[in-house]
Amino acid sequence: MSSKLINGKEIGNTIRESIKLEVNALKDKGITPGLAVILVGDDQASQKYVSNKQKSCEQLGIYSELIKLPADTTEEDLLKHIEELNQKDAIDGILVQLPLPKHINEDAVIAAISPEKDVDGFHPISVGKMILGQETFLPCTPHGVMKLLQHSNVTIRGKHAVVVGRSHIVGVPMGQLLLQSDATVTYAHSKTPDLAAITKQADILVVATGRAKMIKKEHVKEGAVVIDVGMDLDENGKLCGDVDFDDVFDTVSAITPVPGGVGPMTITMLLVNTVQSAKQKLS
Ligand code: GUN
Repeated sequence: MSSKLINGKEIGNTIRESIKLEVNALKDKGITPGLAVILVGDDQASQKYVSNKQKSCEQLGIYSELIKLPADTTEEDLLKHIEELNQKDAIDGILVQLPLPKHINEDAVIAAISPEKDVDGFHPISVGKMILGQETFLPCTPHGVMKLLQHSNVTIRGKHAVVVGRSHIVGVPMGQLLLQSDATVTYAHSKTPDLAAITKQADILVVATGRAKMIKKEHVKEGAVVIDVGMDLDENGKLCGDVDFDDVFDTVSAITPVPGGVGPMTITMLLVNTVQSAKQKLS
């Protein structure tokens, strides 16, 4: 490993360069990859994520469409928008920004997205295929973490990977992907009694809890690789991760910063999935 810091921005940019070439090659064949993003309500963080996704599409020549709906949109109305996008030829990927307002059933919305356009990898068919190791859209954040580890030459086979957090978006698929790369995987979560006793065994520690700076030096084994999926605010309102970066830095062999670690990779993998989806039109 050349550097202790795993630079997601740099690795993401390298991958984006190759996506750009793929987009241009598709355009030469008359295909412009297209992504539709649906945002319901006016959650500040979601608005920022969505605008970053759109900007990234623009930079790479991917067509993007934003459907902004008010917070009181009915589930029925949202499902109609999804059905329209399922049928729309210019759209290869559909992403419904989560979380949705409480009155909308997220599971029903995700299930309504055509699996062929499920670039988030959240549809039950995509999840099932992922667990079976079949080709499918992989969820962007865990897929991005795998790419970070590969590009940083971190050996996964035979290593003990501990995943803290069990969300369907990150924690659960993260463990599956590490398992498929031959790691021994342990899941820890909010009901794990002695967290440090588990995390201290990790050669690779992935933290996705949404709790600011909860992982300290005493949670980390000397020489561990630490991946911080958190995007939290510290006591001063400044962006930070789930890992106390300064506290663990001397202990780890490599670590992702926040910002500039996992974040840029999530969007990069969304672009990868959108181009992968557009390529289905070639056959
Ligand atoms: N909200 C937070 N992360 C994600 C994500 O990866 N996809 C979607 N659709 N919503 C999110």
